[in-house]
Amino acid sequence: MTTANPAPLIFSPYDYDVHEDPYPFYSRLRAEAPVYHNAELDFWALSKYDDVREAFRAPDVFSSAMGVSLDPAAYGPHAYKTMSFLAMDDPRHARLRRLVSKGFTSRRVDALREGIEKISRQYWDECLERARDGEAIDFVDDYAGKLPMDVISDLMGVPEADRTELRRLADQVMHREEGKQDLPKESMVAALDLIAYYQDMVAERRKERTEDLTSALIDAEIDGEKLDEDEILSFLFLMVVAGNETTTKLLANALYWGHEYPQQSQLVLDDPAMVPQWVEETLRFDTSSQMVLRTTTTETTIRGVKIPADQKVLLLIGSGNRDEEIFDDGDVYDLHRDTSASLSFGQGPHFCLGAHLARLEGRVALDMISTSITGYEILPGAERVHSSNVRGFAHLPMRLELSN
Ligand code: HEM
Repeated sequence: MTTANPAPLIFSPYDYDVHEDPYPFYSRLRAEAPVYHNAELDFWALSKYDDVREAFRAPDVFSSAMGVSLDPAAYGPHAYKTMSFLAMDDPRHARLRRLVSKGFTSRRVDALREGIEKISRQYWDECLERARDGEAIDFVDDYAGKLPMDVISDLMGVPEADRTELRRLADQVMHREEGKQDLPKESMVAALDLIAYYQDMVAERRKERTEDLTSALIDAEIDGEKLDEDEILSFLFLMVVAGNETTTKLLANALYWGHEYPQQSQLVLDDPAMVPQWVEETLRFDTSSQMVLRTTTTETTIRGVKIPADQKVLLLIGSGNRDEEIFDDGDVYDLHRDTSASLSFGQGPHFCLGAHLARLEGRVALDMISTSITGYEILPGAERVHSSNVRGFAHLPMRLELSN
């Protein structure tokens, strides 16, 4: 008996087949090449849960200082991204993170609940109205693409009248042209406009403080040290880059997988107490931030494979989250599973500062959705984004089912 030769294992985060469905690639990487080297694109990739977790937790070997995305555009021309503490190592990173955390507290995020409900209600009511008129909605355009940026604006203290314009700028900042890695000019222009807006807002708050994050960042102080102007601006900008698209994708991914696994979404429709698990299992099963980059500071050996110093290494979060050694039947979407080991918000010193906010937003939004409809159907025309690390939908047309 002859067995057919399997196709050679080639993994690239720029491959459209990977964007469509990365999980068969991850599965082969874990089995055949857990410490994978792509010589052509000059990067390594770790796909086993333990290796990803350990690399996150060893910043002295796996540094963030050369950027956290393989995409050169993500840190090349964007001064403000380069300066953000996401792409720094300790002690500089730790100092800024501590100062920022003085303002960005769990208490402040918890206090946002009402604001999140209000913003969510506004956009979701419009969706329900459309459904009553027998119309379909685009879940991304009409809801999930609007909520997270407005919530970030609310947190920062951006007046309601300016939020639509800031959303437009934020969308433009994240916009990529199909198949191109370089940032389009419009994206850089929008980034500068966004920064200019924040600059004015900070100047206003310096004159008169209010009850918002921006004022808290101005006043944050540890041992007489404060954030300077650029540090405040780079953090405000980082929140848009790190917290907007990721949360949008989380919401649409939850609806998508709930539709693919109707028994699972039925659990939530029957019992809203399952909503937090809907959020957590979606994050594990198909997280919006699929991978981050590190650069080796020294030679290191993993599973007998030597990685030299100064190498780019991708930590495949999306793969670690499906590793069968940690998650039984990891390729199955199951709201009853224990997700506590999930890597979706990272690990170690750069653990997501917005995890609490993302979870709160996910819960408020999915609770409002699941308690106001009896079901939903995803219509043809769903479109995935093509991105080297963000996973989710650009468009998700659907029909909502309402009780009479
Ligand atoms: C860091 C994921 C939402 C702010 C991270 C990291 C991951 C992540 C994986 C670690 C990056 C690294 O180690 O290089 C996510 C996901 C989200 C989400 C999946 C939503 C589903 C948010 C939100 C905010 C936010 C809503 C704030 C508005 C940040 C910040 C960091 C970060 C500031 C940098 C922390 C540091 O470098 O110390 N996020 N995030 N994220 N995230 Fe999130």
